[in-house]
Order: sequence, then structure tokens, then C-alpha cells
Amino acid sequence: MRILSGIQPSGKLHIGNYFGMMKPAIELQEQGEAYLFIANYHAMTTVQDAAALRAMTTEVALDFLACGIDPAKTAFYRQSDVPEVHELAWLLSVLCPMGLLERCHSFKDKTAKGIAASHGLFAYPVLMAADILAVNSNVVPVGRDQKQHVEVTRDLAIRFNNTYGEVFTIPEPSIRESVAVVPGLDGQKMSKSYDNTIEIFAEGKPLKKRVMKIVTDSKELEDPKDPDTCNVFALFKLFASGEEQAGLAARYRAGGMGYGTAKTELLEKIDAHFAPMRERRRELAADMDHVEDVLREGAAKASALARETLRKARRAAGLE
Ligand code: ADP
Ligand code: TRP
Repeated sequence: MRILSGIQPSGKLHIGNYFGMMKPAIELQEQGEAYLFIANYHAMTTVQDAAALRAMTTEVALDFLACGIDPAKTAFYRQSDVPEVHELAWLLSVLCPMGLLERCHSFKDKTAKGIAASHGLFAYPVLMAADILAVNSNVVPVGRDQKQHVEVTRDLAIRFNNTYGEVFTIPEPSIRESVAVVPGLDGQKMSKSYDNTIEIFAEGKPLKKRVMKIVTDSKELEDPKDPDTCNVFALFKLFASGEEQAGLAARYRAGGMGYGTAKTELLEKIDAHFAPMRERRRELAADMDHVEDVLREGAAKASALARETLRKARRAAGLE
């Protein structure tokens, strides 16, 4: 089984990103031949500041490697180091009905938010299809919002195969329905757009400040409390064993424990969970040559597959 996924380099990662996207990606590398890339061509649809794009790409590379992407198991690369995907995108574009792209929610959602309606933003699902088909992946793990793009990919692959002969593997989306939405400081979905996040690489005072800002109800210290409606407890659950959860829940219900105590215990959990990754990130950041080598090796592996696919597709389409 070949698995491929991409992530847009979109700013500082938070606990919601970690449990919703990074942890599943890291677990997937045990299940097959894994490819994971930093979608910097895609990010250009919204980020048009060269220094910012470069910096964000490096940050995401460090974050993922620090959190457990193992280059021996996963080909980890920058999308722009496999430019073959653009030629493939053209071969797919000419078979892509306008209506297929017009139906995509992501373009409508993004332009409604004020992002410029460029041709790149509109055609982005075709480039995503090329990313997937270039390496002939069978499985594409994505969030629910990306499912439609994998369906476009399947549609384009089938059209190409029907028009020119069998070239592409038809991929299946693997949707992470099971990952619950991680709540933010205010109880809404944790999101960088709501300024309610806890960053995974925060530490010391800034981390403590964020945890202490978690919104709770106004029950007094001695009152019994309900763990099931508490944001502090919801976050604690992500980090604690069943036994630890039961222990804290019992103390909530018994009364006599303030939210400050629960927050302190959550803070200790977060700190302990990410401490080894922070350390690893510092080591990696001090050895950017190594990070660059990892990305180059990943790109070499993905490029070899992409060149092979492109050769077949060009021949099938009458370009050779
Ligand atoms: P943000 O909402 O902070 O802008 P993104 O939309 O860039 O985050 O999300 C990147 C990835 O992280 C997606 O795969 C998304 O499903 C996941 N993700 C983001 N926030 C959460 C959350 N609060 N709970 C679970 N997963 C999340
Ligand atoms: N469009 C995806 C996102 O915004 C990122 C992405 C680009 C991707 N190409 C991909 C994901 C190919 C999976 C497969 O999150």
C-alpha cells in the first residue's frame, strides 16, 4: 500500500493540528510506503511573500520531524522539489470539465473569506490530483474538508485512463472521521483563526499563560464540578491514561478542588508530552544541513516515481 498526504505550511501548529493531523500522519508511516510533502506550491495561492513562504516551509519541516516523522519510513519532501507535478497537472487539466472545479467548496469558501480568486486558487484541485497520481498512491489520508478533492482526483484519473489507456492508479480517500474536534481555550474548535490555541512548541511562562486562560464556569472551590462539560478536562483527556482521567473526574465530582488545580495538572501533562519533541526540534534547528538532506532524499524518491508516471502519461497522450 502506498500512502500519500500533503500539508500546507500555514503558521504555528497547535494541539488541534497535532491530534487532528500530525499524530495520524505519524502513525500511518507504520502501515505502508508513506509519502508526505509540504505543499508550498499550494500555499502560494494565499502566501505571496517569499521570505514568509520560505520560513513557514522550514518551520513545518522542523515541526514534523521533531514530532516523529521518520525519514527512514516516510519520504518527506517539499512539493516544489518535484516540479514534474506541473506537467502532469496540464495533462489532467485538458480533461477536466470546468463544472468539476466550479462545484468545489474550497474555492467558494476561500474567496468568500476574501482570498483573491486567482486561476491558481481555482485550478488547485487539479494540482492536488497531480500530487496524488504522480506517485500512484492508493490511499490519501485527509481531513473531511479535502475529501472532495480526492474525488476530483479519482474522476480525472478515470477520465485519463478511459481516454488514453491505463496509466493511473485510482486512489481512495481515508477520512479521519474518528478524530474528535479539539476544543480551544474558549470551547470553540481550536483554530489559529480564533486566537484560542495552545501551540505545541510553546513552553515556560507563555505556555502557562495560555493554559490559565482556558475558560471555565464560575463554580466555587468547594462545589462539585462536571468534567464532561469542562474545557480543561476535555484537553486533559487527550494526554492522560484512562486511570488518570477517572481519577481527575472523581475529584471534579467530589468538590473541594478548584479549576486552578486541574489547569496545573493539564499544564504538567502538556509540558511533559511535548518536552522531548521541543528538545528534538532544537537539535534539528541547529543542524539545518541534515534537515535539507532529509528533504532532498525524500524529493529524490518522489521524483523518481513522478518521472516514471509522467513518462507513461506523455507516451499515452501522444507527446512522445
Ligand atoms: P486552523 O483551523 O488552525 O487554521 P488548519 O485548517 O490549517 O487549522 O488545519 C490543518 C489540519 O489540522 C487539518 O487537517 C485539520 O483537520 C486539523 N485541525 C485543525 N484544527 C483542529 C482541531 N481543533 N481539532 C482537530 N483537528 C484540527
Ligand atoms: N490541499 C491540502 C490541504 O489544504 C494539501 C494537499 C495538497 C494535499 N496536495 C495534496 C493533501 C495531496 C493530500 C494529498 O490541506
